[in-house]
Amino acid sequence: MDGNGRWAQMRGRPRLFGHQAGARRVREIVEACPGLGIRYLTVFAFSTENWKRTQAEVTGLMTLFRRYIRKEAQALLENGVRVRFIGDRDRLEPKLVRMMRGLEELTEANDLVHLTVAINYGGRDEVARATKRLAREVAEGRLDPEDVDAETLARFLDTCVLPDPDLVIRTSGEARISNFLLWQSAYSEYEFTPVLWPDFTATHFAEIVGNYSARERRFGAVTA
Ligand code: FPP
Repeated sequence: MDGNGRWAQMRGRPRLFGHQAGARRVREIVEACPGLGIRYLTVFAFSTENWKRTQAEVTGLMTLFRRYIRKEAQALLENGVRVRFIGDRDRLEPKLVRMMRGLEELTEANDLVHLTVAINYGGRDEVARATKRLAREVAEGRLDPEDVDAETLARFLDTCVLPDPDLVIRTSGEARISNFLLWQSAYSEYEFTPVLWPDFTATHFAEIVGNYSARERRFGAVTA
């Protein structure tokens, strides 16, 4: 969800104003999913690198996440959205972690759209944490190193219950992955759009998904 800061700057407003506008966009994009045949949507809200931002911006974002959970919980529940969070919760404030857990539990029976929000998430950090857990299983004799393959490691990732993404969309004109779902996106299609996240509408979303549908995916094989 890139481009919130620039969106605000272009209006002479503080960066947090852009994040607030960005948070409002999330609902429209989630609600567009069923009509586009999308069951799994993952949004990148805060990376392991975002702690380098000013204290004011970090605090503002954490407040925004709490407000988002409080404000959106009921609508998410009623709209059939199951919410999950990925990322390292250890560095997040306990109050936010409790609210994240609460929203996961509240919506766990939903199945129409699976919304995953990445907070304090980094692809490398996720693989490192997964490796640590895997190594513990080996050290404690529950896993034979000879049995470790790509599927084994995937079971230890934050995304263990989620399918790999078919399509990764980055807004705001940057053509970088920036540590997002590194392992999971090995065969994902990428779409980069110049539209800043607060301007990204359901119409933009539908257009990009339409482009994706026209692509041929071979997963390393050749066409028959
Ligand atoms: C990147 O834009 C955006 C973020 C770091 C924050 C994204 C968070 C939200 C949109 C709030 C949504 C909340 C939930 C819980 C769904 P940037 O600040 O890097 O923009 P810039 O590149 O223009 O500076």
